[in-house]
Amino acid sequence: MLINSKSYRTIWSHPDDSTVTQIIDQRMLPHEFIIVDLVAVDDFCLAIRDMYVRGAGLIGATAGFGMYAATLQCRDDNFTADINNFAKALCDTRPTAKNLVWAVERQLTAMAHCQTVQQKREIAFKTATAIADEDALFCKRIGEHGASIIKEISKKKNGEPVNILTHCNAGWLAFVDYGSATAPIYQASNDGIKVHVWVDETRPWLQGARLTAFELKEEKIPHTLIADNTGGHLMQHGLVDLVIVGTDRTTFTGDVANKIGTYLKALAAHDNNIPFYVALPSSTFDWQIEDGVQDIPIEKRSGDEINKITGLAENGEMTTVLIPPENTESANYSFDVTPARLITGLITERGIVKPNREAILQLYPEKKQVDLRG
Ligand code: MRU
Repeated sequence: MLINSKSYRTIWSHPDDSTVTQIIDQRMLPHEFIIVDLVAVDDFCLAIRDMYVRGAGLIGATAGFGMYAATLQCRDDNFTADINNFAKALCDTRPTAKNLVWAVERQLTAMAHCQTVQQKREIAFKTATAIADEDALFCKRIGEHGASIIKEISKKKNGEPVNILTHCNAGWLAFVDYGSATAPIYQASNDGIKVHVWVDETRPWLQGARLTAFELKEEKIPHTLIADNTGGHLMQHGLVDLVIVGTDRTTFTGDVANKIGTYLKALAAHDNNIPFYVALPSSTFDWQIEDGVQDIPIEKRSGDEINKITGLAENGEMTTVLIPPENTESANYSFDVTPARLITGLITERGIVKPNREAILQLYPEKKQVDLRG
């Protein structure tokens, strides 16, 4: 991904000291570009909980490096108890994101095969690096598969720009590189297809306005920022050809948890016969939960995220202002669940698949035992 024409990932190991992990502090984007060092497990927990890093894949990659940091903090003579405590602390930071638990479990499984503490530390570093590399690779593949959908629409429109609506930020800032929902857009644009992106601002944290608009600008993709309630109107007037969003957890039956407001966009798309796709790497699938609406845990965050807004003031300083009357009670549900019946398809690293149990398990046959649970 490009920032000021320089290529970055969102997380990396310090080139001179592998015990330090470096991230971009997303709370300050797009106005300030700050790199933060993470060393102790507490640093990783804070970075995930307070959203220095956010988004499915990046939360997973951060948890992966956090587990490596944990191995360095574990006492040699109490390693198993310590690592399990650190694993729990990381998993407790954000409840909806499946990639978080997935990465922590992958680390614990990798370590379980080692005999010595030193071997556990070595494998944890290798696994953290593999999780990050795989995330970038899978997003690239999602881009290749998803671009075919955009190309098909472009053909039908005789090369006129394809208007794509996206919600929140499922771009490279939400992953290690490329992004999920944005990867097909980047790929299609690289292949010479004309695209234009409607960017939902995405209250309350404004991931769309702050992050998606920033990355599309850096990548020179034409885009327009819209208030969250605008999508339905645009769809009724033929101004949206396609919706692509990301997801924080998707059941093996095809229900999709994503940033609050996604469900309303899916309803509007359904009513207007507009294809609604969800892009995700396999690390975001939940292979246990069948009914997403009932059973996916939905994170509730501080009401301050609704009541206050931070941005660049005219004096050039980052400023936070209060919007409603002081002490107004607000409910900040961070995610909602879009039922599979409203989704046209899932764009994965293995290809595009219908959002139902049979099709998903056919694409991931190694998970088929889940099917036998009834
Ligand atoms: O609260 P966030 O910013 O971590 O939420 C995650 C998201 O960015 C979105 O829900 C996104 O659309 C899916 S994550 C790729």
